[in-house]
Amino acid sequence: MGTDENLQTAFAGESQANRKYTAFSRKAEQEGFTNIAQLFKAAAEAETVHALSHLRTMKQVESTNENLKTALEGEVYEHNKMYPEFIKEAESENRNSAKITFNYANQVEKVHADLYQRAIDAINTGKDIEKTQYFVCQTCGYTAEGESPDTCPVCGSPKQRFKLVE
Ligand SMILES: [Fe+2]
Ligand SMILES: [Fe+2]
Repeated sequence: MGTDENLQTAFAGESQANRKYTAFSRKAEQEGFTNIAQLFKAAAEAETVHALSHLRTMKQVESTNENLKTALEGEVYEHNKMYPEFIKEAESENRNSAKITFNYANQVEKVHADLYQRAIDAINTGKDIEKTQYFVCQTCGYTAEGESPDTCPVCGSPKQRFKLVE
């Protein structure tokens, strides 16, 4: 292991810690531990600081033009290769809830790929994309533009499950 690998490992670990603490914070909130929820939230935010610092140190934050290409590549890989394989394996192992969570992510990555492609098309003509509002389904992650749909096209959740991105 050299420092480059260590940075990558630390980035992955801090990123995961951020998401875990966010989930733990929500759970603490549900259980009525409001102050412990805040502690998890604070730690989660600190892990984000670490993760972003590691990422910048690896020079993996480039111009928006480059970042869009990187983002698109990731979404396309997940949609075309990673999740289809994961879904197949979950099926063959009868892991239904894993299959469902992979399937939700898989369908939404395609939506993200399309959104990024449009942003790439805009930036190629030197422009930002049109101003809009985004809503994210809190069950499957489906990302809607403009307004939230009455029913989520990916998971069927009702409109109230959509959260406005601020
Ligand atoms: Fe995505
Ligand atoms: Fe959904």
